[in-house]
Amino acid sequence: MASDEQKAVLVTGCSSGIGLRLAVLLAQDAKKRYHVTATMRDLRKKDKLEQAAGDALNKTLSIQRLDVCSDESVAECLNNMKDRRVDVLVNNAGVGQIGPIESLSMQDMQKVFETNFFGAVRMIKAVLPDMKKRKSGHIVTMSSVMGLQGIVFNDVYAASKFAMEGFCESLAVQLLKFNVNVSLIEPGPVNTEFEMKLMEEVGKSQFPGADAETVRYFKEVYLPASHEIFTTLGQSPDTVAKATMQVIGMRLPRLRYQTNALYTPLVALKYADESGSLSVRTFYNLLFNFGPLFHLSMNLIKCITCNCFRRGAVSPS
Ligand SMILES: NC(=O)c1ccc[n+]([C@@H]2O[C@H](COP(=O)([O-])OP(=O)(O)OC[C@H]3O[C@@H](n4cnc5c(N)ncnc54)[C@H](OP(=O)(O)O)[C@@H]3O)[C@@H](O)[C@H]2O)c1
Repeated sequence: MASDEQKAVLVTGCSSGIGLRLAVLLAQDAKKRYHVTATMRDLRKKDKLEQAAGDALNKTLSIQRLDVCSDESVAECLNNMKDRRVDVLVNNAGVGQIGPIESLSMQDMQKVFETNFFGAVRMIKAVLPDMKKRKSGHIVTMSSVMGLQGIVFNDVYAASKFAMEGFCESLAVQLLKFNVNVSLIEPGPVNTEFEMKLMEEVGKSQFPGADAETVRYFKEVYLPASHEIFTTLGQSPDTVAKATMQVIGMRLPRLRYQTNALYTPLVALKYADESGSLSVRTFYNLLFNFGPLFHLSMNLIKCITCNCFRRGAVSPS
């Protein structure tokens, strides 16, 4: 349980990836500034977290079951915490979805919103009244650069992150009055199980309802390009977790933090031309017209961004 000097941090989606690394880093903080409630929807997956937590387990880190899609599960988890106190909420739980939209059922698309958007909103609703009463708190949400810039064949996932961006941006204004801060972490590609889970789903699909040409573009153009983006630009979950920990430790945190300086120019295209044409045409040309040059572009991005765009991104110290 959190001592009076420690901040009580609740992190969702700690069975793997960024959530697991973040929970462990916070719990192993040398100054013992945090007590972490690391949550996951299926406690049968807790071994990896327990192992990574080491000595911090049951001292500065406790594990609770929490499914962000269930009111009962959220209430049960909060009721198990000392005074139901959450000083920092990290909305990390998320699911991905890729593919031609014609082949995705409405139900599957709604599931993405249920987790990525309504799951995070449910968590915020649950902790907000106490944060407002105490006039302190920090709500940190794992968004994505896809919450700023839509990416082909990620239509619904990007929309769920855009929705979260709009929600948090709106809420941040009201909450300043109550000294509650809102931050969005916007990673580019991160090498976690996230991509693997998507590839498994795609491997099983016959893409019902999608035309042959779209399926061919998806399989032969998008999937290899996406794989290359992950191998060229991908960050480790540890890097993103360290950047997030840095934001949690700030006295006056900002609303937005991109974690990947290599990805910043792609997002900047959008702000360079408010009509949207520049970003749409650049992504179109990169993907469909300059296939052989795509690989070169990836390396070029690496070169031109080594110094120029670093100021916009938060990086672990
Ligand atoms: N990987 C990337 O390229 C990338 C890039 C930008 C942003 N992000 C965001 O970063 C966050 C973490 O993703 P990751 O890359 O670390 O992937 P990950 O390893 O797949 O982690 C996702 C976590 O969310 C959990 N989760 C899913 N549905 C849940 C629910 N209903 N209730 C509670 N937990 C649930 C998963 O639990 P289960 O094990 O039970 O499924 C898992 O622990 C996500 O919000 C994702 O959108 C990822």
